[in-house]
Amino acid sequence: MVEKLQDIAAAMVARGKGILAADESSGTIKKRFDTIGLTSTEDARRDYREMLFRAEPAMSQRISGVILYDETLRQKAGDGTPLVELIRNAGAVPGIKVDMGAKPLAGYPGETVTEGLDGLRERLAEYYELGARFAKWRGVISISNDLPTKGAIHANAHALARYAALCQEAGIVPIVEPEILMDGTPGDHSIDRCYEVTDAVLKAVFAELDLARVALDGMVLKPNMVIDGKNARKASVEEVAEKTVKCLKANVPSDVAGIAFLSGGQSDEEATAHLSAMNAANDLPWPVTFSYGRALQAAALKAWGGRSENVATGQRAFSHRAEMNGLAAIGNWKRELETAA
Ligand code: 13P
Repeated sequence: MVEKLQDIAAAMVARGKGILAADESSGTIKKRFDTIGLTSTEDARRDYREMLFRAEPAMSQRISGVILYDETLRQKAGDGTPLVELIRNAGAVPGIKVDMGAKPLAGYPGETVTEGLDGLRERLAEYYELGARFAKWRGVISISNDLPTKGAIHANAHALARYAALCQEAGIVPIVEPEILMDGTPGDHSIDRCYEVTDAVLKAVFAELDLARVALDGMVLKPNMVIDGKNARKASVEEVAEKTVKCLKANVPSDVAGIAFLSGGQSDEEATAHLSAMNAANDLPWPVTFSYGRALQAAALKAWGGRSENVATGQRAFSHRAEMNGLAAIGNWKRELETAA
């Protein structure tokens, strides 16, 4: 049976659930493992991800989908079950990161364009066979005094749209992720500067998606929140929620199946608080949930620490964050729930 893009997309943003971004490339997962003093081997990467994908009640109650890296999509759990099957058995949708990373953009010093379009049609066909039903591509935009340029915004928006069209042709739901980094140089930009750049980027992305004939009800947008730079004064939870929703409402057509935010270096609790405030205060035209990497995994990684005797502790830490974010996705998170755990 061929599943409809719209049904897959709806499942990815089902009420009270969100996406686990576990698609760290080999370089990125090594950096994460370095923080717990663990050598990044193929088995260690498998053990870590198997721990997450077997975590209950997180997986069956709060996780709608998991973004995987190529290696993980092909890996088997310790008992020989494909990891993809663990995800499916929990009722979640397996997904795959398909971009090949942000590379320097010729003629635009300090800016990047995400590569990976060549051969993508063939790779998508294989990923579909391996069980992936959605994909992710991340374009990266940095803020500084004179960046981003129109050229870099255009190049990234164009690549995102071509990727999204190829996914839909293959029966795969594209997650379209134009990320405006919180850390840029010097990383002290204001929330209003982030608003201005997010607004320009979303306008460019939706213009390109339209030209590429992408079906909006068969895609999920993964944006950054509108937030001040990492080294700037902290905007309040209410201000982040209000400005983010304003910017999205101004740019994202209501046909889009859903919005699933990245955490982008926010602390676990900030990422949860912001999501909850958006869902609590506003009448939103689309489901708004999470697609967090660091903000879902940091506590679990630390609790696990690379030791088999800590699997249950790691799973509890992951289930807690998944529960908090699941509540935030319906506007029901409260700070007191963090300490009650
Ligand atoms: P973070 O939530 O850690 O930003 O990761 C999400 C992601 O998939 C970035 O591409």
